[in-house]
Amino acid sequence: MDQSELIREIKDLKVARNAVIMAHYYQEPEIQDIADFVGDSLALAQKADGTPADIIVLAGVNFMAETAKILNPAKKTLLPDPEAGCSLADSCPASQFEAFVKAHPGYTVITYVNTTAAVKGLSDIACTSSNAVQIVESLPKDEKIIFGPDRNLGNYIKSLTHRDMLVWDGACHVHEEFSLEKILELKKTHPEAKLLAHPECPKPILIVADHIGSTAALLRFSKTDTAAEYIVATESGILHQMQKSSPDKRFIPAPPKDSTCACNDCRYMKLVTLQKIYDCLRNESNEVLLDEELRLKAEKPIRRMLEISSKLGLV
Ligand code: 13P
Ligand code: SF4
Repeated sequence: MDQSELIREIKDLKVARNAVIMAHYYQEPEIQDIADFVGDSLALAQKADGTPADIIVLAGVNFMAETAKILNPAKKTLLPDPEAGCSLADSCPASQFEAFVKAHPGYTVITYVNTTAAVKGLSDIACTSSNAVQIVESLPKDEKIIFGPDRNLGNYIKSLTHRDMLVWDGACHVHEEFSLEKILELKKTHPEAKLLAHPECPKPILIVADHIGSTAALLRFSKTDTAAEYIVATESGILHQMQKSSPDKRFIPAPPKDSTCACNDCRYMKLVTLQKIYDCLRNESNEVLLDEELRLKAEKPIRRMLEISSKLGLV
């Protein structure tokens, strides 16, 4: 099947199965373009919550599909490639995190949604990069906090909120690989370009960034800001929506340390293809299944996050 046939078939299957395709901004452009909804991790969780569809196809990675399933236990949630994991989630094994939490009684545990259901089950509140600062600030000032798993996001939040926070030492392979040196080199040939950085980037990059935010926040900024050029330090998939929204602006992917690798592509996000979406929809395969006891434990911190976000009007 060629691409246009595949797209037609996916659209027909979506109607026949009453399915919805939700895609993260880091997906390939052709996947973002066939999705019913494209968003960041927070928006995907909000959109998945109570969807009227019978089947959710999560064009993203495992923790996103798990989150959709946790919020919709009666619905079929399909992950087009079951190998689509997350290096950040992998950097926080549940058994080690449990020991860490147990060693620090009296701490409130906040975890980024980029975690397994088991780690969510050990947490009090979940957060995403769109709401992490507000979630932390919603707690009393003297509350002691464990934050995991991303050390860059955690330390960034700590620097903004000045809270008593213990930060887990995890990281994402994409954001860790950006090269400050090469970004500064690039700035020499594009002196007017603004640097947009995701808070999962290491501190030296955040220090020189003109704007820091989640993928949705960076996209919003790129639409309303008046610069003509931007260097974008997050996964390259976001450039598709930026370019679509602002066709006259130039978006340059921030260079990774190793110029021979495509390290600003998430190797897990990029496992998803149109063919795999078609196959899983047609066969209703690669369903995400969760033990009910674990699902219930993991649901609590996500519900708390959604409640706080909705109270604060965060979308
Ligand atoms: P957001 O979707 O919160 O911007 O996070 C980026 C990310 O790394 C998702 O895997
Ligand atoms: Fe995980 Fe990083 Fe890929 Fe996001 S970009 S899914 S944090 S590995």
